[in-house]
Amino acid sequence: MRRPIIRPLPTALALASVAALTPLVTQAPAAADSVIIGGSAVRSSEIPWVVALSSRDRFGGTRAGQFCGGVVVAPTQVVTAAHCLSREVLGTTVSEVRDLRVIAGREDLRGSGGHEIPVRTVRLAPGYDPATSSADLAVLTLAAAVPAHYAIATARRGDAAYRPGTPATVYGWGDTTGVGTYSSTLHAARVQVQPDAVCARAYPGSVMGGRYMPATMMCAGDARGGRDACQGDSGGPLVAQGRLIGIVSWGSGCGRADAPGVYTRVGEVLPTVADRH
Ligand code: ARG
Repeated sequence: MRRPIIRPLPTALALASVAALTPLVTQAPAAADSVIIGGSAVRSSEIPWVVALSSRDRFGGTRAGQFCGGVVVAPTQVVTAAHCLSREVLGTTVSEVRDLRVIAGREDLRGSGGHEIPVRTVRLAPGYDPATSSADLAVLTLAAAVPAHYAIATARRGDAAYRPGTPATVYGWGDTTGVGTYSSTLHAARVQVQPDAVCARAYPGSVMGGRYMPATMMCAGDARGGRDACQGDSGGPLVAQGRLIGIVSWGSGCGRADAPGVYTRVGEVLPTVADRH
């Protein structure tokens, strides 16, 4: 099932998330779009800031309960997408998920290396709007610290890395085949920051489709298509010039030349989440 159009329509949002993430409680169709399109496997030890969000209770143990990505920005602080913590994704409220954890430093989700750390608190960006996906960002506080060198620097408002054409890399554990074959190893794809006009054109906010909002979103992809994030990569990092610039948020299909990936604009939205400790 390739969704021609996506969120933020509430029904489309629900479908996308359910299809992608398949909570155990929900009878959902198999995931459709593939994830980290056109990418290649990377060693997570070299990318220590990328973490998996996990709940075995909700998503089963095969891939350690992975359902979204996240990014270490300080030893006890992980940034992810707000929509990853929604009822549509989790099948219940986040406070009901007893085993919400972050998995850091693990090469293969089938293995047991690295750290599994419970999430202590969840803070959504105050401007997060599930209907439009604006400000799709949350900060998780961990119950224990990861090593300080795991953290990646975050872009500021107006950071030079937001300039169109900047090479960037997106990371995730999503489906790599397009038929629901989620990866157990971390993948990465090279994309470029795209001008806001490209996403504004791709996502004008039609009856069914999402609307690109440049104040809180950013646009990245490959002009010829073929390289992109996809379902299951949400919450994971888009990195350029050594800094976190975006969080995987949404898109129409995956890897389409005419539909780039839409990411949360970290430089704008992260500072709105108060009290980083
Ligand atoms: N919403 C998806 C998720 O929950 C991420 C979609 C990203 N799509 C894209 N074409 N870049 O995992």
